[in-house]
Amino acid sequence: MKKQLIAAAVAAAITLPAAAQQSVEVLHWWTAGGEAAALNVLKGNLEKQGVKWNDMPVAGGGGEAAMTAVRARVTSGNPPTAVQMLGFDIQDWGKQGVVADMNEIAAKGDWDKTVPLALQKFSKHNGKWIAAPVNIHSTNWIWANKDVLAKAGVTAEPKSFDEFIAAAEKVQKAGFVAIAHGGQPWQEATVFDSVVLSTGGIDYYKKAFIDLDPKALNSPTTEKVFARMGQIRKLVDKDFSGRDWNVASGMVISGKAGFQIMGDWAKGEFVNAKKVPGKDFACYRFPGTQGNVAFNTDQFVMFKLADANKAAAQQKLAAAIMEPGFQSAFNVVKGSAPARTDVSDAAFDDCGKKAIKDVAEASKAGTLVGSIAHGHAVPASIKNAFYDVITRHFNGQIDDKKAVAELVSAAKN
Ligand code: BGC
Repeated sequence: MKKQLIAAAVAAAITLPAAAQQSVEVLHWWTAGGEAAALNVLKGNLEKQGVKWNDMPVAGGGGEAAMTAVRARVTSGNPPTAVQMLGFDIQDWGKQGVVADMNEIAAKGDWDKTVPLALQKFSKHNGKWIAAPVNIHSTNWIWANKDVLAKAGVTAEPKSFDEFIAAAEKVQKAGFVAIAHGGQPWQEATVFDSVVLSTGGIDYYKKAFIDLDPKALNSPTTEKVFARMGQIRKLVDKDFSGRDWNVASGMVISGKAGFQIMGDWAKGEFVNAKKVPGKDFACYRFPGTQGNVAFNTDQFVMFKLADANKAAAQQKLAAAIMEPGFQSAFNVVKGSAPARTDVSDAAFDDCGKKAIKDVAEASKAGTLVGSIAHGHAVPASIKNAFYDVITRHFNGQIDDKKAVAELVSAAKN
């Protein structure tokens, strides 16, 4: 008996290294409940293929902290297998020449034909696929608690900025927090995306915040945008400072607050809390922005790896991300639309169906624009300078006029 056991142990010791398990290490900032649930879909998918998942979460919406962590890892010659990344950051890494070429796998998976060009602009560098887009999020959304609105006497969906303010004031008067907000620069910038679109319309958005046209930026429209940010500021509660976005979503979910202005990852929180759109909560485009979509897309950038076993696992990860069935299952939970246009909307709830339809229509109409706040309008250096101005204005440190002037000079640098 003892002999047999020893023999078995020896055999195991001999066979184990040969069958070394493939693994991926994935760096991301999906730490909220809904985000983690979505990530689990991907993790489960890989584990079914025998690939071990090493999780590397770096909390912080918009990914600023995560990007700092990535820089440190790459500089020390130890990049993770894959990194969640947004827009211009992907291109920055493309230029460094440290990311893997995914053209072969992209050809097999029909990425060229199925991923909208607005996304490909960020996923490809010098004709090579360097990132696998998992979704299309958008920022110009409002999330509302239906019960709170009914109690406050808000009976119809606000269709303009002024109607929205009037509705929020009613909610506040009824004793609720009108707008659940988290005072962090990226969250203020997320609100800013919507206010810019609603105030100046699509042409102004493109001219001022994508082309950085000084005339469009230095205009009465931009001053009005800041004045409106000030109106919103009056409708948030006194404890907003530093609050995480998902805690703010929680305030709407629990009936403490009426509205949240946030990207559709917020829906992931509602769904995770078993709330049903149309029954418990409402989703609508930020008033005055229907027809326009300020998008951001989470993409996984694969770094060049010397270890062949790890590189093989990396290819499996990329293929799994782009598989249509997975894109449906993942985005149903995440709150976003699939990055592939050939994925059916059948499994999605009403907000998800609306997201998919809005993106398709905006893509056709030329009104699908990159989010300023989430790195798809301008590179990170300018984005961060914008964050700073928007946040200091929101906190009353500079007035509307000074904010406009500072935004103009931030765009120049
Ligand atoms: C990402 C989302 C994420 C959100 C909050 C955004 O920048 O695109 O996937 O849920 O930040 O963390």
